Amino acid sequence: MPFLSDTLARVKPSPTIAVTTKAQELKAAGRDIIALGAGEPDFDTPDHIKAAGIRAIEEGKTRYTAVDGIPELKQAICAKFKRDNGLDYAPDQVSVSSGGKQVLFNALMATLNEGDEVVIPAPYWVSYPDMVLLAGGVPVCVEAKLDTNFKLTPAQLEAAITPKTKWLIFNSPSNPTGAGYSRAELTALTDVLMRHPHVWVMTDDMYEHLAFDGFEFCTPAEVEPRLYARTLTVNGVSKAYAMTGWRIGYAAGPKELITAMRKIQSQSTSNPCSISQYAAVEALNGSHDFIARNNEVFVRRRNLVVEMLNAIDGVTCPVPEGAFYVYPDISGCIGKTAKGGTKIETDEDFCTALLEEHGVAVVFGAAFGLSPNFRISYATSDAALKEACTRIQAFCAALT
Ligand SMILES: Cc1ncc(COP(=O)(O)O)c(C=O)c1O
Repeated sequence: MPFLSDTLARVKPSPTIAVTTKAQELKAAGRDIIALGAGEPDFDTPDHIKAAGIRAIEEGKTRYTAVDGIPELKQAICAKFKRDNGLDYAPDQVSVSSGGKQVLFNALMATLNEGDEVVIPAPYWVSYPDMVLLAGGVPVCVEAKLDTNFKLTPAQLEAAITPKTKWLIFNSPSNPTGAGYSRAELTALTDVLMRHPHVWVMTDDMYEHLAFDGFEFCTPAEVEPRLYARTLTVNGVSKAYAMTGWRIGYAAGPKELITAMRKIQSQSTSNPCSISQYAAVEALNGSHDFIARNNEVFVRRRNLVVEMLNAIDGVTCPVPEGAFYVYPDISGCIGKTAKGGTKIETDEDFCTALLEEHGVAVVFGAAFGLSPNFRISYATSDAALKEACTRIQAFCAALT
């Protein structure tokens, strides 16, 4: 009898974490490495949010809480959905977990039966397909390519839906491309969903506040109110509030689904960290002024990176609407040979040779389900980005 489970064999470790680990190893060995793999802001958590966490400790708010969130946080989340998205949710329609990742995991575990299909536009956040597999479902990945700026078309969605489809996972602005769907583009997709009443939508709005150049963020239940009863709207404080380590994510949706998700959480982790929950109340209710300031920095960095990448022969990089990623297409580099002798047959070959020869760590596109590309996370200093892009330019210029 094998010791490890069959379930474990279905999934792979996170490739983004693997790239970050490799970069750290090379750094520890004395190499000059610029790591652009990690998906987190380089900003510190704002002081007023930190202070709320410290206050919670000092006031002894350090015990178990209700499994899926303290009432104060659920209230703050309901107010947020009303304020930002025009959505009405009651506290018993809200679930709080240890990060957006656990929210998504709970929802899939609570709803998928063996063979249930989940439509996932590719490129996707690396965890979606593996979480679906862990929950016994079947990921149905649909490639949204450069020609549509990495956005799923209504015809593609229509073609992917079968009687077994349970969910569409939707993510805008997107990790890894930064692409954001306009209201018209999203409406075209929700129109398709209206023709298939058995399909639910899990919308991952984690990058809602990281939207640039006047891009208007919108979310499925707001765009199509008739989808409200089959939408799980997922969000969190990790990215926009620079709180990745605090581990707070949340979702709102139909009460029965939220109750089912609570049951999963009650038998796995119980409540998310009590201190982080109080800090998240301050994040949602307090001043949001820092977001506009941070976004100015992100836009400057995005423009720098896009410009330097598009100056390379064989590389095409659209300008993303949000998040802090770019996802250049490297079709023109495939089939060439790097200076060190590596034949570049895949985007993984490209990224491995780039790391080895020039010390720049980026994540290869195959990890996100669309090749040949790579992802840069530009949530790091302008100086590091400039140096990294200069090295990428040198690496590409030397390809023969
Ligand atoms: C699209 C997307 N969803 C969810 C998450 C998970 O967020 P959290 O750190 O809150 O678990 C991430 C983090 O990288 C993400 O990029």
